[in-house]
Amino acid sequence: MQPVLKISNLHQTFEKGTVNENHVLRGIDLALSPGDFVTIIGGNGAGKSTLLNSVAGTLPVEDGQLFLNDTEITKQSVTKRSKYISRVFQDPKMGTAVRLTVEENLALAMKRGHKRGFSRGVKSKNRNFFKEQLATLNLNLENRLDAEIGLLSGGQRQAITLLMATLQRPDLILLDEHTAALDPKTSITVMELTQKLITEHHLTAFMVTHNMEDAIRYGNRLIMLHQGQIALDLKQEEKQDLTVPKLMTLFQKNSGVELKDDALLLA
Ligand SMILES: Nc1ncnc2c1ncn2[C@@H]1O[C@H](COP(=O)(O)OP(=O)(O)OP(=O)(O)O)[C@@H](O)[C@H]1O
Ligand SMILES: [Mg+2]
Repeated sequence: MQPVLKISNLHQTFEKGTVNENHVLRGIDLALSPGDFVTIIGGNGAGKSTLLNSVAGTLPVEDGQLFLNDTEITKQSVTKRSKYISRVFQDPKMGTAVRLTVEENLALAMKRGHKRGFSRGVKSKNRNFFKEQLATLNLNLENRLDAEIGLLSGGQRQAITLLMATLQRPDLILLDEHTAALDPKTSITVMELTQKLITEHHLTAFMVTHNMEDAIRYGNRLIMLHQGQIALDLKQEEKQDLTVPKLMTLFQKNSGVELKDDALLLA
């Protein structure tokens, strides 16, 4: 099956040629099949966000190639990629326009990737569609179309951000610790919603998390980054009976790194 995303020999180095040179990604090779929901773990500074930034195009690729559905996108602009790739960040404020209403934000998302300017006027035919979409979140947001996004809670905003990120059915969705800023209960709600949207729309997703339980529970594939390389790549079958201690043991076996506790990964 043709991969949705193919990463070939990706290298990224920060502060090259200085004493602080940091070779963050050291030849990443990865292919994501349609419908893959890949969770990514790794310690602080392992290069998880750098990997996502490279795919989204916000960070130019130093070496290697990226393909989206067989089209090379290594040098494609962020704007062009954003038609096919959407992102959700840790900070709920990043995904929405704070002074616009829920409806205006959703209207923006409908136009995402199109170069036309945004008009504040919202077509009424979209109103019902937005209401229906909001109702699927089960957060009683369907009657809040006229509320300013800035007045909603972090969890509500992150749920709407997810809705916005999936409205255009992107080829790929990148989630970078998108539940990390939420309280545990809200985090579960948003994770369940994430899973629902990805599964229902058969989306392909990359999700960075520091929560190893989540990394195991969600998705059909788990990748661990360590020292700029893929230290573990576990498929659905291998994830089935996985526990955090088993994951640690596997990591130690594959990387040769002795872990005294799970601080490295939970950091
Ligand atoms: N723009 C940049 N300029 C210089 N160094 C950077 C830049 N972005 C990231 N780095 C460095 O690259 C390394 C990897 O950073 P990255 O943000 O990818 O880590 P991460 O795995 O996402 O970590 P965390 O779990 O803390 O979010 C870190 O040492 C970081 O300081
Ligand atoms: Mg990060």
